[in-house]
Amino acid sequence: MTKFIIGNWKMYGNVTSAHMLIEAVAAAANARVEVVVCPPATLLTQVTGWLAGSKVQVGGQDCHAAAGGAHTGDISAAMLKECGAAYVIVGHSERRAAHGETNAEVRKKAEQAMAAGLAPIICIGETAAQRKAGQAKAVVARQVRESLPEKVAAGRFLLAYEPVWAIGSGKTPTVSDIAGIHAHIISAAARETGLAPERIFVVYGGSVNAANAGRILATRGVAGVLVGAASLKAEEFVSILRAAQTAAQDPRRK
Ligand code: PGA
Repeated sequence: MTKFIIGNWKMYGNVTSAHMLIEAVAAAANARVEVVVCPPATLLTQVTGWLAGSKVQVGGQDCHAAAGGAHTGDISAAMLKECGAAYVIVGHSERRAAHGETNAEVRKKAEQAMAAGLAPIICIGETAAQRKAGQAKAVVARQVRESLPEKVAAGRFLLAYEPVWAIGSGKTPTVSDIAGIHAHIISAAARETGLAPERIFVVYGGSVNAANAGRILATRGVAGVLVGAASLKAEEFVSILRAAQTAAQDPRRK
């Protein structure tokens, strides 16, 4: 199974830094791994231009829940598509927290993405307080139930498990924790969509770096990684990519 290595640049980067990063990533990419970079919207057109002919895909970081309209400052899924994006992140915890995005809104964004021909990367994950209260599995199951569009086709969406407390903190769950939650998410999503569990792809995100990526990528139920801070450092992101390429080459692994 091809792994997904997704870089979420958040609100970082300018034309010069983006160009250097893209050159390094494009040179390291090959067909064994699906690499996706999600730059700020202002850089999308340039980044897709630089990546023409490469194996690297581009994604947006968010889209609006409507197809169009009087929404000053917002961007529609179709606009991202026109810029050359193939993916879009929806429901990131930073947007859920800072913009009050609900599961219902995230579902609408994912529906708009799919209608525009983009694959949504639907983010879910529990807070530290929810985990402490033993609610992590219940929280992610509810997010799956309420954020996934009603009609989804296999291969047209990804789920990203990003525990809120792991994002930008340097902390990660243990690999057995990740395996347990991913299995739970996969079965909840399979139930919800009617798809076979092996057609549901869940990537892990939250403090992924060059040192822990190999271990996380080798964990059962992990279809790839969504990388924030480490995706802005060429050397670090390329070494995460190499870890995935090595895993894909290993005949003992699926
Ligand atoms: P991080 O961010 O890798 O910097 O923890 C991940 C994310 O927010 O997607």
